[in-house]
Amino acid sequence: ARPGTAQAPQATAQDTPTLVRRLRGEAVDPATPASVWFMRQAGRSLPEYREAREGTGMLEACLMPELAAEITLQPVRRHRVDAGIFFSDIVVPAKIAGLAVEIVPGRGPVFDHPIRTVADIDALPPIDDSLEESLEPIREAVRLVTAELGATPLIGFCGAPFTVASYMVEGGPSRDHLRTRALMREDPAAWDRLAGWVAELSGRFLRAQVTAGARAVQLFDSWVGALSAETYLAHVQRHSAAVLGAVADLDVPRIHFGVGASHLLREMHAAGATTMGVDHRIALDQAIDLLGGDVPVQGNIDPAVLFTGADARYAEADAVLARGASAPGHVVNLGHGVPPDTDPGVLTDLVAYLHEQSSAAREP
Ligand code: CP3
Repeated sequence: ARPGTAQAPQATAQDTPTLVRRLRGEAVDPATPASVWFMRQAGRSLPEYREAREGTGMLEACLMPELAAEITLQPVRRHRVDAGIFFSDIVVPAKIAGLAVEIVPGRGPVFDHPIRTVADIDALPPIDDSLEESLEPIREAVRLVTAELGATPLIGFCGAPFTVASYMVEGGPSRDHLRTRALMREDPAAWDRLAGWVAELSGRFLRAQVTAGARAVQLFDSWVGALSAETYLAHVQRHSAAVLGAVADLDVPRIHFGVGASHLLREMHAAGATTMGVDHRIALDQAIDLLGGDVPVQGNIDPAVLFTGADARYAEADAVLARGASAPGHVVNLGHGVPPDTDPGVLTDLVAYLHEQSSAAREP
């Protein structure tokens, strides 16, 4: 054998992308440029996305490996963000499991048969090893993306049991998630079976992405902010913990994110996250303090500054960088997803601006 080819090289710290090191809270040279990606960076803000999706349904597109890979790569090429986020959706696992679900443009996921009764829960398809085969388009898309991305990491994701179950119970998007919250109070055992089903399914979906090459994961619990900490602990946390636990042996950072969930940061972290995503409703340094100062964070530029002049946008970017400096690691993101009507040029410019900044420049 030629020298150096006899053995696979051991992974070293140098091989680990800076963004992943920051998610892990590992020390990074303070002169290193900020690391940034955006939730919903793929999608309707990009003309190339609208063109690629022309004539193909959202969930169909998610199950077409070449197309899903292409859409995942589009924002990385255009904006030069430091990570790709896998193009999929939180209801893709339910679709793969055989439920009748669609994404209605401008509205969100809609289930044909809302889950309202114990009989509905009993009728959910069993999650067994036959699912692994149905997950092959997901693995294939991840392999295609990671081959193209090279050193840039891909972030895999799935929806958390509360948020996904809320779409299943309500039948579609909901403001208050009243039926879901009623179910967990009226029949906690039935709720546990439903949330347990979602957790098992989502855990397998997430694990498939990581074993195929994703270098970090994010668990989206978008609507969990509707719950008190008491309700979260009693009915939700263990199900989110089951999803995060499904990839805990795979050595990838586990980001956990909720909207309007500042009052749940510690409880969500305790579900088994390594890193907390923070929305824009709380100052990042305050979130870091609430978490005890030793948890890496991601966030939390207010998406509103995508619609202001550059001065207000850069001021917000500076403030977020300065506030993030007290965490063991900080990856810049928005406080929630990119709105569809965002000017993509603004995002590209914001990434370039952030890349000119580093924690060295932030030193007082
Ligand atoms: O860049 C990325 O982040 C791409 C991957 C991604 C999508 N959905 C693609 C998508 C991710 C990470 C999601 C997660 C997701 N989906 C969440 C959690 C994140 C959040 O925003 O809080 C939620 C709640 C959903 C459910 C969902 N799917 C909604 C509310 C919508 C919007 C409906 C609309 O038309 O306004 C979707 C559809 C969806 N998911 C689109 C994309 C690109 C738009 C589909 C289209 O082109 O019409």
